[in-house]
Parts: sequence; structure tokens; C-alpha cells
Amino acid sequence: GAGRPLAVAIDGPAGAGKSTVAKGVAKRLGIIYVDTGAMYRALALHCMEQGVDLEDGEALAKALDRSGIRLEHGSDGQRVFLGERDVTEEIRREDVGNNASRVSVHPDVREKMVEMQQRIAGSQAVVMDGRDIGTHVLPDATLKVYLTASSLVRAQRRHLELQAKGMERRLDLLVEEIEERDRRDMEREHAPLRQAEDAVLLDASDLDAEQVVERVLSLLERVEA
Ligand code: DC
Repeated sequence: GAGRPLAVAIDGPAGAGKSTVAKGVAKRLGIIYVDTGAMYRALALHCMEQGVDLEDGEALAKALDRSGIRLEHGSDGQRVFLGERDVTEEIRREDVGNNASRVSVHPDVREKMVEMQQRIAGSQAVVMDGRDIGTHVLPDATLKVYLTASSLVRAQRRHLELQAKGMERRLDLLVEEIEERDRRDMEREHAPLRQAEDAVLLDASDLDAEQVVERVLSLLERVEA
């Protein structure tokens, strides 16, 4: 639209490769990559440390106000802060990810997060990834992509990532965890994970990240033309 900054929305289930692809697309376009999952993760970490009840939406919303969650975008990508504390690496923990999924079911939490995300995308060009970017955060995005892959492929990737970090996890348990997270993200009442009507479906089960980046860039060329 006229005068609105460029926005590429990438949604999809956990482990489909959204962040790798979004990062790659942002780099090629010379714009920032905004990882919205990191915001839910930061809130989860904050609440785990502060002993906030993860089922209590009101308490979570209050905790979010006090958490000091903010994003910085530098040459090395996005960094996530709780106040002055850089939690970029810590929030990648498996337990933090699972708890992020739990805090994200609460409407009060989502409302505040969406506002923060819209503010970021209002003033600059972004590639933003998450679960509800095309459906709620950026309904007028320049391009919407719904990126998916089979749960086995996603679990295998996670397995390799963990192995590389010296953390051995059973593949069947990872498949189960991923499917449980999908279920929770897709079946929650408020802003569930689903493909926006005007989003392009990309199944990355048989594609590497670079191939997906190329597809997204060529889709963008088409919508911008
Ligand atoms: O993408 P991720 O694994 O970092 O996200 C962690 C959790 O946060 C995910 O299970 C669901 C939630 N989330 C969300 O509800 N909405 C978003 N836009 C991004 C993440």
C-alpha cells in the first residue's frame, strides 16, 4: 500500500525453518528480521524466574508490562533483552520454548505483543516470523508465506541441531513434542496458528533453506511488480 513500509510475514509451525528463511530473506533485502517467538520466549523465561503462574493470563500481562522486553536489531541480527539483560541465547532452551507456547494462549498477553510488533513494523521494513503475523499482526503485509514441513522432518532437524550442541534427544520424543506444540498452537482459542487466506503455502520438507529463500524472493518480486 501507499507509503506503508515493506513487510514480509512468515508463519508456520515450530521447526519448519521460519527463522532461517526469514533471516536469509531479510539479509538479501537489507532489512531487519523480527523474530516474534523470541518475545513470547522472553516472557516465558521472565515468568519462570519470577514464579508467575503460567495459567494466569492477568498475572502474565502484568508481568509483561514489568518485564522490560525489548528487541535490538544490529548487524548480527536480533538480540532480545529483559531490561538490560541479554537473554538471546537463554531463550532458545527447550523448556522455555514449551512454556512460550503456554503463555501465548492468553489473549491479554497476545494483545500486548501484537501492539509491540505492529509498532516495530510501522516505522521500518521488516521480515517478521511467528504464528499470527499474516492473520493478525500484519494483515496488510506485502507478502504472506505459510511455511511448513512434516513433523518428522522438523524433528530430525531439531535432533541434528541438538546433537551439534552435544545434547542427545530421542527422535520419537522430539516428534511427540513437536506435534503437541502444533496442537496447542493450532487449537488455542485466541489467534490460533493457521494459514491466512492470502498467504502462499510453502512446504519445505524437501527443500533446503536457500531454496526456500529464493522462492520467497521471487514471490515478492511478483507481488511488487
Ligand atoms: O517460534 P518459536 O518456537 O520461537 O515460538 C515459541 C512459542 O511462541 C510458540 O510455541 C507459539 C508462540 N508464538 C505465538 O503464539 N505467536 C507468535 N507470533 C510467535 C510465537
